[in-house]
Amino acid sequence: MTTFVLFGGTGDLAKRKIIPALYSAFVNGRLDQDFKFIGAAREKLTDEEFRVRVATAIESYASDVDGATEEKRAAFLATTHYSKIDARIPEDFAALKGSLQTSETNATLFYLATGPDIFIPVVEQLSKHGLVEGNARVVVEKPLGRDAQSAKEINQSLRSYLNENQIYRIDHYLGKEMVQNLLALRFANSFLEPLWNRKWIQDVQISISEQVGVESRGDFYDHTGALRDMVQNHLLQLVSIVAMEPPVNANPDAIRDEKVKVLRALHKFTPDEVSKKTVRGQYRAGAVDGKPVIAYQNEPGVPPSSRTETFVAIRAEIDNWRWAGVPFYLRTGKRMASRSAEITINFKPIPYSIFGKSQGPLRSNRLVISLQPEESVQLYMKAKEPGEGIRLSDVALNLDFAEVSNSRRVESYERLLLDAMHGDLTLFVRDDELSAAWAWIDPIMSAWQNDSEGLKSYISGSWGPSAASYLLAQHGAAWGEEFVES
Ligand code: BG6
Repeated sequence: MTTFVLFGGTGDLAKRKIIPALYSAFVNGRLDQDFKFIGAAREKLTDEEFRVRVATAIESYASDVDGATEEKRAAFLATTHYSKIDARIPEDFAALKGSLQTSETNATLFYLATGPDIFIPVVEQLSKHGLVEGNARVVVEKPLGRDAQSAKEINQSLRSYLNENQIYRIDHYLGKEMVQNLLALRFANSFLEPLWNRKWIQDVQISISEQVGVESRGDFYDHTGALRDMVQNHLLQLVSIVAMEPPVNANPDAIRDEKVKVLRALHKFTPDEVSKKTVRGQYRAGAVDGKPVIAYQNEPGVPPSSRTETFVAIRAEIDNWRWAGVPFYLRTGKRMASRSAEITINFKPIPYSIFGKSQGPLRSNRLVISLQPEESVQLYMKAKEPGEGIRLSDVALNLDFAEVSNSRRVESYERLLLDAMHGDLTLFVRDDELSAAWAWIDPIMSAWQNDSEGLKSYISGSWGPSAASYLLAQHGAAWGEEFVES
């Protein structure tokens, strides 16, 4: 039997992501028959009151789960319970222990969907009450720490109560279908590997653009910023999977051993390099999809004089034999022109065109792996347009996963929760990966702190500050959306 205890059970993440993911897994028969869900938070609620909130979350964020019926929803709510927990009150943990013992739990997953400041107090109490022995696992949400030092301290404290294989550091990007597909694409096909290096690749671009602003998280976000919120985790995880060497097998540690080498090989910037290779911006008022939106500084919870970045672009480099000299352009921002997450591998141009100048410069081949909104892999090639004479155009060999497979789509949180329940650590971040990622981020953060002028602004609904275009243009490159076919 599995018991799932959700700290932060009344919070935003619980409502939007975790409860819908659990519900979907339940409806699809992926949870044990005697699965039990306990929401835990500081508020005093009865089981019944918590169930009402869970039902509302399902209605708002999981109404389209395939196969859901009124009976299944009622059955899910029947598995749901509530435990009032304040991290500073040991008696609350004693009460939680009581409810776990009466159910003779044999596997417990504690999910900490709370602020990082209470991770350690919670784990300490769980440990003191004997709740993390045996089969227990603890899932911790990002951001884990604010810099390399604080992440190290949190990791050390976690390790004093738990074994590394009980700690599931979640990065929901790793649960996205296409991220796993990237592993398949790279390591189950023979034709790409010979090309996957500095000889054939011009640059790699990884871009995650969002249309949303900071929503209800202004206060949290203003203390975090895009570099910590997105680059330190999601973007660097994608870099590590794109750039890793083939692992010896598909076991969690074999994969993570290779990923961490990439993170360690990321070239650490000097302050001067930070000013040349990074761009940060903050959104002004504008319009997204034709609807007017306010400036970041006017968002609830954000101070009007805030200097926090909501956009980042970086020209990263990996100092190793495979990648030396290949720029990895990373970009993420809120309130941008469209929502997408894409990895583009731009191959080098052909050495010489036999088709003459009349064809203009030919855009080189590229492989575009789209994580969202669609899940697809497209290989852009040049081909002749039908008809007289030779006129070349870009055509895509298109692998659209919605078209090729009817299998049920599994949202990343659902996949990761199930993996954690089954004890599979592959898609969770190991402590050395986290330290290596922070070690690369730290010099950027320090340089930014000493350079208050460096924050640019951009209009909501645009593709970010113009400096982000210049970052590539000065090297003859362009972001995907800027490329104009001649
Ligand atoms: C979260 C960030 O980790 O990822 C959010 O904290 C961001 O700020 C979100 O909006 C983006 O996730 P997705 O899956 O919608 O691209």
